[in-house]
Formats: sequence, C-alpha cells, structure tokens
Amino acid sequence: MTIDLQTENDHGHAATELDLDRVVAFAGQIAQNHAIASNGVLTYLGDRLGLWRTLASVGPVTSAELAEHAGLAERYVREWVSAQAAAGYVTYDAATQRFTLPAEHAAVLADDDSPAALVGAFEITAAVWASVDRLAHAYTTGEGVGWHEHDDRLFSGVERFFRPLYAGSLVDAWIPAVDGLTARLTAGARVLDVGCGLGSATLLMAEAFPASTFLGVDNHGESVRRATAAAQRAGAADRVAFTEAAADEYDGGPYDVICMFDALHDMGDPLGALRHARAALSDDGILLVVEPAAADRLEDNLHPLGLSWYAASATMCVPGSLSQAGGAGLGAQAGAARLLELFALEGFGTARVAATTQFNLVIEARR
Ligand SMILES: C[S@@+](CC[C@H](N)C(=O)[O-])C[C@H]1O[C@@H](n2cnc3c(N)ncnc32)[C@H](O)[C@@H]1O
Repeated sequence: MTIDLQTENDHGHAATELDLDRVVAFAGQIAQNHAIASNGVLTYLGDRLGLWRTLASVGPVTSAELAEHAGLAERYVREWVSAQAAAGYVTYDAATQRFTLPAEHAAVLADDDSPAALVGAFEITAAVWASVDRLAHAYTTGEGVGWHEHDDRLFSGVERFFRPLYAGSLVDAWIPAVDGLTARLTAGARVLDVGCGLGSATLLMAEAFPASTFLGVDNHGESVRRATAAAQRAGAADRVAFTEAAADEYDGGPYDVICMFDALHDMGDPLGALRHARAALSDDGILLVVEPAAADRLEDNLHPLGLSWYAASATMCVPGSLSQAGGAGLGAQAGAARLLELFALEGFGTARVAATTQFNLVIEARR
C-alpha cells in the first residue's frame, strides 16, 4: 500500500508516496533492534552482578533460586531472567518454572577465559553511554574525546573484549603468518608493543616466547599502571615492562619487533607513529600492525560486523584520534589499501597483508 503525502519536507522538496509496507517493515526492524539494545543494559547488569556466572554454575533454577545464589533481590532477578528468556539467551521450562543458561551460551556470556567470550563488549557499551553527553558536544564542535576522558569501564571492557581474540589468534595464527616472526621470537627478540592498553597482547606473547623481552608503551597512564600490575600478577615483570609514552615519542631501540594491536587508527598522527616505529626498528626488524578487518570501500562494509566497527569508530576511535595532535581521524574501517598507503608514505621497503581473518587485518612491514 502507498499513501500520497503532498507536504514539503524541511528542504522544500515534495515528499511523496510513502510505501506503508516498507514503513511497517522498518518500524518492526527498529522495534526489534531497540528490544535488543534495551536488553544490552540487562546483559551488562548480568555480567556486573554475576548473574551469568551464577546461571552457568548452578544449572536450571527458578528466579528465587537464582536470586538466592547470586545474593540479589528476587523481584528484580525475576524480571531480568524473564527478559533473558524472551531474548533466547536462557531457556525456560514452564512446567518447573526453571531457567537454564545453555553451556554454549555460557561460553559467550559467563567465562572471560573462553575463546568465545563476548560479554566484555557490553562493558564497552556502558562506558560509551556514560560518555554520550561528551560525545554530543564533540559532534557539535568537532573537538575530540580523549581515551582518558572516557568512563573507566572502557579500559577494562576493551581488555576483556580483545583478550579472547588475541588468545585464540595471536600466537597460533597471526604471528605464524608473518615471515620468520615465530623463529625470531622463539630465539629471543626485543619486542615493543605500541598502544599496549592493559597489555593483554604483550603478556600473551611473553608467555609464549620466554626468550624474548617486552616493552609496552601507551599514552594513557592508567592503562600503563594496570598493565604493569598484570605483568606482576603473571610473574613476568622480569622481562615485561610497561611505560607511559606516545607512539611518536618513546625512547630506546633498536627493537627487533614492533607491534600495534588495534591502536594505529586511534592515533592522532598514524604517519608519525609509523615514522617513529621505522626509526626504532633494527635493520632487519619487523613491524606487525593488527587492525580491524575492513574492505576498502564503504559499500563493502555494510554488514553487522561493519556496523559494530563503525559504531566503535564513531564513539571511541575517531573521537580519540581527533583529540590528539594531528587529528587524522583514520577510523576503524580504513581498509587494507588505505593502511598500506600509510606504510608506503613512510618509506617502508615492504608492507603487506599477512593474514585476513573474520575480525582483523594483519599487516607486516619491514624497513
Ligand atoms: C583500542 S585500544 C587497544 C589496546 C591494546 N593494544 C589492546 O589491543 O588491547 C587503543 C590503545 O591505543 C592507545 N593510544 C591511542 N593513541 C595513542 C598514541 N598516540 N600513543 C600511544 N598510545 C595511544 C590508547 O590509549 C589505547 O590504550
């Protein structure tokens, strides 16, 4: 069905012929998306309050039993767990009035050490919502929003979101994809991780390659402090250190291997960062840059993963980059061609995509 709307829109163009079926279909899509977004708050609360972990450990439970195990108020838990049944995150047995978190769902929602862990992403979203007024101001003025200006949950959420990805891919897939890198790290290399965040990638490499030494640098002091504490907890502080420094100002070197994990596009001056890295590499050094997977053309990134990365880019990566000197605003969906162009501009002899996975581009470059 169509209806004629002979009105003028704000730009003075006649708006005609609304296809009502399409309106209804789109309203249904938005309503569904809104339901999922609303449950994002509950998914985060379930993580924060231990409900997912409790469900995973106790098996089928009534809402009263779940509340008791979790030490929470039953009336809230009843509503929460009913929402999760409606979402299909838990199953509900009407005969016993018990809710169950399937083991496969627990692997995603209840266990940070699972390779499928994703619940940390909701902590990131909580942090982004906390920054929403700051972001609205930035969108109006064009100013940036620095990494350090965000809610604390951003740092822990990012670490929790990326660590399972790194645990599953870094040592077993990404490093072997780079010519000679496994051998270098096994033999013992000086490794620098630029934009190291809370140091999860640094520490995973340190664990896998005990003959190598590692330095992580990040311009966010709180992340460096937490990374340092993590190295101490891991008993690796004798060969893993973290220090506060920007990507274009750290000292030392030459380094045999320099890495940047999901950090280059966050920088205000990615070219300056590559220039500094090239100067800090040994003659036969290797630069490993991991970036979010993206096709080169916007029209080829229009799918759920592209949405996820663009949304992250619009709320964290671009604002962060615009807050720094240079303000490049490369964005999380730059794509391989644009990224390789940056390496060429900085005079790297070789730069190539060593691996493309569902979520990431792995780039290796040499002086
Ligand atoms: C998305 S986080 C990734 C952190 C870490 N590499 C990981 O994968 O878990 C990006 C990191 O880059 C850091 N960063 C951004 N711009 C930087 C710069 N110019 N110099 C050093 N670090 C920077 C941020 O502080 C943040 O810790």
